[in-house]
Amino acid sequence: MINAKITGVGRYIPEKVYDNAYFESIVDTNDEWITRRTGIKERHVSAPDEFTTDMAIKAAKKAVENAGITAEELDLIILGSVTPDYFTPAGACVVQAALGAVNAAAFDYNAACSGFITGLTIAKQFIENGMYKHVLVVCADVLTKATDYADRSTCILFGDAAGAAVVSASEETGIIAVDIGADGTGATAITQLAYREDAEETEKRVSHNKSSIWMAGQTVMKFAVKAMADASGRVLEKAGLTYDDVALVIPHQANYRIVDAAIKRMGITEDKVFLNLEKYGNTSASCIPSSLAQAVEEGRIKKGDKLILVGFGGGLTWGAALLEW
Ligand code: UT7
Repeated sequence: MINAKITGVGRYIPEKVYDNAYFESIVDTNDEWITRRTGIKERHVSAPDEFTTDMAIKAAKKAVENAGITAEELDLIILGSVTPDYFTPAGACVVQAALGAVNAAAFDYNAACSGFITGLTIAKQFIENGMYKHVLVVCADVLTKATDYADRSTCILFGDAAGAAVVSASEETGIIAVDIGADGTGATAITQLAYREDAEETEKRVSHNKSSIWMAGQTVMKFAVKAMADASGRVLEKAGLTYDDVALVIPHQANYRIVDAAIKRMGITEDKVFLNLEKYGNTSASCIPSSLAQAVEEGRIKKGDKLILVGFGGGLTWGAALLEW
């Protein structure tokens, strides 16, 4: 039996910071409301000339280095993003060229904020069926470039980041169980239009800019709490384990209230949960891999630990993965 195991992770966080005082200067809000309703204090923002693949390349290079392989050994690069540089080429091809990963196939996919778990699930299939040995899963988003800065209910949430992981064939236990899913009946709860003309959608936006992000915050919150708790429960059940066996849960960092309600539903306490949303906000698909890379850097994860990574996002989608480090 070949196992799929994360062998290296990396993250990239842009330098510029928007704190809550910045939002007080552009919309009718205040630090007290943002802190109480979201837990977010700061978000990092990409430079005007810095885009998804620029950040993805930086995180990917670190993940490959930490995995102790060469870029030529990669068999596949997949990039999850909702803010691509281009419709074509795929951002994964741009990353492939920058890395010199000449033997890797490359494609992009979109599962919004559930992107990293979806990527791990794809990698796990290719590795366990024996087709590939090393798959690079990279998630990067520049949500701040799609943010509606006239909409006080969404503009305070988003930051930019990239996170990456090399998933390799291993004899050791790695990605034990995954659970991904979607509820397309909630598709209009988070939207950002491409070619489709949709007057109703455009009208909903404070800025009336159809390509900015719009979200039904309360609907998404309700979905998120249940989806994350249920998906985590399912991966544990598949593995015949309980939360007592888990050292750390890394959730999508969307809103402290969502995480808090989800972990109460899971029946676990905050000491088992990795949180960094105060500093980075919601960085879309990058949230989970960049948090994982940070947790590794900070020594929060040791060999043999069991982890749950769990998220939700546009689609509406969800995903959970249970791993042994
Ligand atoms: O990864 C993508 C997934 N997205 C998310 O995870 C987001 C999920 N949703 C949320 O995090 C929350 O719904 C929000 C943070 C977006 C909003 O929090 P909420 O507790 O759901 O607030 P609300 O939308 O029910 O609004 C409550 C009040 C409203 O005023 P009225 O109608 O009661 O007078 C809003 O206009 O708060 C007002 N409000 C604000 N006030 C000050 C909304 N945004 C702000 C703001 N500052 N920034």
